[in-house]
Amino acid sequence: MSKMDSFKYMEDILLGPMRSRALLLAIKLQIFELLQECPLTTQEISHRLKVKNTSMFAKLMHVLQCMNLICFDGKTYCNSEITHAIFSSGQENNFAAFFCFLAEEIESRSTADLFFQIKENQTPETPEVSFAEWQLYMQAMDDVAMLSAEVIAQTIDLKNMKTLCDMGSGPGTYAFAFARTNPKLQITLFDVEPSLIIAKQNLADNKFSDQFQFVEGSVLDEDWGGPYDAIFLSHVIHLFRPTEVLHILQTARRSLTSQGKLWIRDLFLNTEKTFPELGVLLSLCVWTEGGAYSKNLATYLLGQAGFDCVRYIKLDAAGQFPKVVGNLLEASTGHKKSTSQV
Ligand SMILES: C[S@@+](CC[C@H](N)C(=O)[O-])C[C@H]1O[C@@H](n2cnc3c(N)ncnc32)[C@H](O)[C@@H]1O
Repeated sequence: MSKMDSFKYMEDILLGPMRSRALLLAIKLQIFELLQECPLTTQEISHRLKVKNTSMFAKLMHVLQCMNLICFDGKTYCNSEITHAIFSSGQENNFAAFFCFLAEEIESRSTADLFFQIKENQTPETPEVSFAEWQLYMQAMDDVAMLSAEVIAQTIDLKNMKTLCDMGSGPGTYAFAFARTNPKLQITLFDVEPSLIIAKQNLADNKFSDQFQFVEGSVLDEDWGGPYDAIFLSHVIHLFRPTEVLHILQTARRSLTSQGKLWIRDLFLNTEKTFPELGVLLSLCVWTEGGAYSKNLATYLLGQAGFDCVRYIKLDAAGQFPKVVGNLLEASTGHKKSTSQV
């Protein structure tokens, strides 16, 4: 690569944080929501959004236009096709909560915090999370889950299973998809209190209600109830360190019937932990306590916990999903005894 090309490559890297900041500002100011109604001039938009710094606001509009998120016809602005597809409210899939949540998660861990964590092993204090923030988190998880819930419910073979534990069930999107696909399946949603409150709200009054039980607790608890025929662990292990994940997998194995199966869904990395980029970056910038697990390490931990017949299932065989959808590891209880060293 020439010096010029190297410089251009670095320049591109620096554009990333600025782009995501502009996107977060647009979502928070509700620009896309407003423009969904009808095309408007800058003055009309800033007036309707009660913006006081109009020159900064005009700069933001130029950035959004340059990022192809809004279009300008010389007089009025409207949402671009991309924005319309991703952020239109009232549509089944509106991903504003997801992008807002992710951008805020990234912003909430400053470079200075990460620097001290790496250099001095100093962990910054975890700020209190309000219920409103938790609701945004669950909405974001629901946004992502909607992308693949049906495919996952079709991929996981639950035909002969009577009971399933959805551990760290979040907003309940997968539980709903499993219930719809398997009308006789009893599903236990297991999560910490705020997530469970939201899942109960989301799953109230639907025709599958009789299939759901709700258990409040921690994945690190020794007792998950059961024994279950199946356990689903989606986007949970990246929150925990390898020793904790081993403990979780050992508990999962104890909580399954002798023919039971466990499915772990996550952003599994390659052996070198350099791909996919989203998992590698989230691992450093957001999942600071845990991290994205490589397929190999997760398989090794499953073996240590006494699972066998581990099978990697690519959800994205046709390349249709964004990276955030991740992939699945399926494991059977087998006949091995758990060994506890990592
Ligand atoms: C990234 S979300 C994934 C939610 C859902 N499984 C999905 O894939 O959409 C992580 C979930 O783990 C839950 N969680 C975090 N810590 C937990 C703990 N110690 N015990 C049980 N659940 C926990 C969160 O409440 C949240 O619902």
